[in-house]
Amino acid sequence: MYKIENHLVSDATRAYAHLDEAGYQAMYRQSLEQPEQFWAEQAKRFLTWEQPWSKVHESDLSQGQAAWFIDGKLNVSVNCIDRHLPSRGEQTAIIWEGDEPTDDARISYRELHEKVCRLANVLKARGVKKGDRVCLYMPMIPEAAYAMLACARIGAVHSVVFGGFSPDALRDRILDADCQVVITADEGVRGSKKVPLKQNVEKALKDCPNVHSVVTVQRTGADIPWHEHRDLWYHDAIAGVSADCAAEPMDSEDPLFILYTSGSTGKPKGVLHTTGGYLLGAAMTHHYVFDYHEGETYWCTADIGWITGHSYIVYGPLCNGATTLMFEGVPTYPDASRCWQVVDKHKVNIFYTAPTAIRALMAKGDEYVTSASRTSLRLLGSVGEPINPEAWEWYFHVVGDSRCPIVDTWWQTETGAIMITPLPGATNLKPGSATRPFFGVEPALVDPEGNELEGPASGNLIIKRSWPSQIRTVYGDHQRLIDTYFSAYKGVYFTGDGARRDEDGYYWITGRVDDVLNVSGHRIGTAEVESALVLHDAVAEAAVVGCPHDIKGQAIYAFVMPMHDIEPSDALVAELKAFVAEQVGAFARPEFIQWTPGLPKTRSGKIMRRILRKIACDELDTLGDTSTLADPSVVDELIAQRLNRA
Ligand code: WT7
Repeated sequence: MYKIENHLVSDATRAYAHLDEAGYQAMYRQSLEQPEQFWAEQAKRFLTWEQPWSKVHESDLSQGQAAWFIDGKLNVSVNCIDRHLPSRGEQTAIIWEGDEPTDDARISYRELHEKVCRLANVLKARGVKKGDRVCLYMPMIPEAAYAMLACARIGAVHSVVFGGFSPDALRDRILDADCQVVITADEGVRGSKKVPLKQNVEKALKDCPNVHSVVTVQRTGADIPWHEHRDLWYHDAIAGVSADCAAEPMDSEDPLFILYTSGSTGKPKGVLHTTGGYLLGAAMTHHYVFDYHEGETYWCTADIGWITGHSYIVYGPLCNGATTLMFEGVPTYPDASRCWQVVDKHKVNIFYTAPTAIRALMAKGDEYVTSASRTSLRLLGSVGEPINPEAWEWYFHVVGDSRCPIVDTWWQTETGAIMITPLPGATNLKPGSATRPFFGVEPALVDPEGNELEGPASGNLIIKRSWPSQIRTVYGDHQRLIDTYFSAYKGVYFTGDGARRDEDGYYWITGRVDDVLNVSGHRIGTAEVESALVLHDAVAEAAVVGCPHDIKGQAIYAFVMPMHDIEPSDALVAELKAFVAEQVGAFARPEFIQWTPGLPKTRSGKIMRRILRKIACDELDTLGDTSTLADPSVVDELIAQRLNRA
């Protein structure tokens, strides 16, 4: 066990970094006091515009409205590829590390340009036009990045669906965005296991009559279902088109992508991001937070199916002309030394991962780490959930040899880019704290009535002003955007997270205050799991809460009331777990299922989750008031039968 203590910025880090403390303070102050000037300078510095904007910014958060760089024109693929060709055409843009350690590839910016242009032409030939939605259901292969950038090149809006989602979840997302084209692979490969992506697409498309084209990348050569008129092989299709494709000039506020995320209700939300503001947010944070310097190799272990993969594998790094590493496999295959073997093999300088991965590797023992040299490493990052200080210190001392600063970055699918984070050359670190706001971000803490709290305090985390990479709408349902984020507290953005601010103004994120769970960094709405459970014939009613888990952060705990004629059994528990995995995806499989003859409800029929949460977490001494329950006796039964006890 390492001592938990604050870590000051080292002289070496400060000397190397883009910014020191005075630099951070000056820029942060300017970003709040002269936002127009600040953002105009940054947008010119980080992006290449085909036409300048007429106005930097306009917003009305009470209506969930925000626009940045109004009337400005640019193309994301030009910013991520074309403009780098004269200076770094032969530089590696993407290092691909396959599932097997012997499988890797390097793709130069010039090659990336050719691949993206060809795929863009394939999409065009299939009738895809500016504004059309294209669904990507792909493994972690370079073609996934080509597909995102090909959409951006022609102004199509991509909707990447994580490859771990079930056919039903895929279908719901294709239908919600009315995607007419799907790009996929025959199979994915992770930890030597195959994922039947094309087969899943086939199942999903039974209910999607508007999908007229499916482009399939051949990854494993598996036998797959095929439809002559609808399906085309990626390799055949790109061979038959030109390697040049003019980029569509896009308005700064034209949509770039939709990415579905979970909220408190069963229906996932299509978070929509636009062009100029999003790209600036991704590029600028990648530059300052990871302190990226020309020539460095940067590795973010996320999947492109999540926002972290969008902003910090593809858009941020490529916009900055970086070398970004894309990893197909898992950190424990062939064994738990894989990440550090990869770091040594590709001389990775910056490594960004999730606390759940850090905890899982920590549990395997230090030898897996220390068997690799890791001398290229300079900076470590953490994202996705609060990192416990013990894991932080292990990451710092063992992985980083007590030499590499750790940036604990707080943000969300909706924020598009990192919001609260240390800057390596400026911020003294406290393990477990995401520390201070990034430029232009004005966080605050409020009590449930919306009163702003001053000084050291705990409360709900809000953001008081618009920032360039913020969510623009929930696809197809702007009212839902207003209701979810801009109504709890009028005129400000509500994050759904709770936080504490200490005497130094540092923020400590405590986790979600809504019905959203965070399981191994995957965001899951309790309602999604409940809807899946009640679809099963044996289930009358279900309520789902989270409970602490050593590795996953949180685990799913479900209270299930069987149908009157059903006899609960262990076999049925196993069946229900598998059923949820099939309905939603394996990552949503409940850890615990407790049978119950009834759920604790108020007299008006509302399930009291607060009580269920306490029971699942084995926190019985703080159960709180149960007198408002219609039938308080169910609580005793629930307590007596509770699982999750060591
Ligand atoms: C939720 C957003 C965008 C990152 C990937 C997850 C939690 C994220 C941290 C952090 C504590 C964190 C929050 C947030 N979260 N980063 N550094 N410390 N909590 O994106 O799926 O949209 O989830 O992840 O609860 O609201 P997401």
